[in-house]
Amino acid sequence: MKAAEIPAGEGRAVVVGDEQVAVFRLRDGTLRALSAACPHRGGPLADGLIDDNVVVCPLHGLTYDLRTGAETSDGGPCVSAYTVDTDSDGELVVKPKDDGESRVPDSGRSSARGDQLRER
Ligand code: FES
Repeated sequence: MKAAEIPAGEGRAVVVGDEQVAVFRLRDGTLRALSAACPHRGGPLADGLIDDNVVVCPLHGLTYDLRTGAETSDGGPCVSAYTVDTDSDGELVVKPKDDGESRVPDSGRSSARGDQLRER
């Protein structure tokens, strides 16, 4: 999946390995990535409203720091934060904190490395 496929100011859920990851593209083009499921009741963070710093869970309004995954409104559980960048072709590269990097292919295709990544 190319970063340009995510409209500025929105997020998209992708699968990285066995995990759902919400990738956000800020209005200035900066990419951020967090675990996709809100730890409160599983709300889809990729569908939440974002500004330059936080995403607001669309279900009950808890907010998560886009850099760290810390919950900033209520001191609740945090979500995992990922490093996200693009390769020379503009494809997303998501890096789990304690794992190797994983490319996010176009929807329905597997990467050459066999990673199980797809757009939700
Ligand atoms: S599910 Fe996210 S705030 Fe409740």
